[in-house]
Amino acid sequence: MTKKGQRPTLTESAWVPAAARAEFAATSGAEGTEPEGGVSAYDEQLLRFGGDVSRETPPVAPLPRPASPRVIAVSNQKGGVGKTSTAVNLAAALAEGGLTVLVIDMDPQGNASTALGVDRHAEGLLGVYDVLAGDRPLLRTVRPCPEIPDLWVAPATIDLAGAEVELVTIDHREYRLRSAVERLRVQLERNRIGPPDFILIDCPPSLGLLTLNALVAADEVLIPIQCEYYALEGLTQLVRTVRLVQAGLNPALTLGAILLTMYDGRTRLAAQVADEVRTHFPDSVLAATIPRTVRISEAPSYGQSVITYDPSGVGARAYRDAAGEVAARAAATRPGPDDIDTARSEASLS
Ligand SMILES: Nc1ncnc2c1ncn2[C@@H]1O[C@H](COP(=O)(O)OP(=O)(O)OP(=O)(O)O)[C@@H](O)[C@H]1O
Ligand SMILES: [Mg+2]
Repeated sequence: MTKKGQRPTLTESAWVPAAARAEFAATSGAEGTEPEGGVSAYDEQLLRFGGDVSRETPPVAPLPRPASPRVIAVSNQKGGVGKTSTAVNLAAALAEGGLTVLVIDMDPQGNASTALGVDRHAEGLLGVYDVLAGDRPLLRTVRPCPEIPDLWVAPATIDLAGAEVELVTIDHREYRLRSAVERLRVQLERNRIGPPDFILIDCPPSLGLLTLNALVAADEVLIPIQCEYYALEGLTQLVRTVRLVQAGLNPALTLGAILLTMYDGRTRLAAQVADEVRTHFPDSVLAATIPRTVRISEAPSYGQSVITYDPSGVGARAYRDAAGEVAARAAATRPGPDDIDTARSEASLS
């Protein structure tokens, strides 16, 4: 039973219509994901964070639904460029705009899970590791984000750190996440529930098997680029990896948007880097630029996105703008191969 003021569990959510909820609970045993009569780790999170936000959220325009459900891998093998912040805050802004969003945390560091209010050390918590290495359905791992309706996360538990090694001996190892996402869609469809409008996958800072799984599962790649020295370092390699995945494992993968992050308007360097990236990728770079602001870095320690932590701040506004662009692009196009664009980007970088 949901306590007053708490967000619902998956089987209680508005994402899941009532009839389907009952059927889903009966057929999948999903009700077993919460301890009977007890307070789950998730409930504790709700109690801890419930009612915290006091600042006013500005009026938010509803966002258009994508032409078809979209899976976006947020990837850049360079560390600390804002992948996790982007996955979390973009997802929160999309959900705030009325869309259903699932974040899949593919990074063993688990920062996206924490930022979305999941205690990833909770005993018995299922996560992406159990999906990749243990054949658990993705649906069984999905947890609601306490702060925003229709925002969900498949968390990274600490076991995910070993997944890259374990996957090496598993058949079809590059397709594990893709199969899990397809299974999720079938399971939801069977219960007359639409798939999430967006699935955002937070990738680790490497081009190993976890990132490969994300790229094989994705329709497009979103690349955050930090407005700092060596911003374009490693991008050639990332674009080539995308091209290799397109050629062999996932022909439908496209190079999607590039998002400039940690932009410090007081420095000439940031402006120069932004200009350089826009010159290399004129069509891909989003108009929205994410400023460097302490609120974005503080929010995760409160188990929140910046969208709820500081709803009217510059960080939240910038991620809302980026979400508006991502949603508009996805509403206007269907996923498909973009060999020409990727080839042009590769040529432009070499
Ligand atoms: N716009 C921003 N302003 C200020 N700090 C930011 C901003 N974006 C991210 N940060 C901070 O920079 C650090 C790196 O960001 P983040 O974790 O999002 O990068 P990442 O690419 O996911 O890192 P990793 O490669 O380790 O996964 C974090 O401490 C984060 O809070
Ligand atoms: Mg990260």
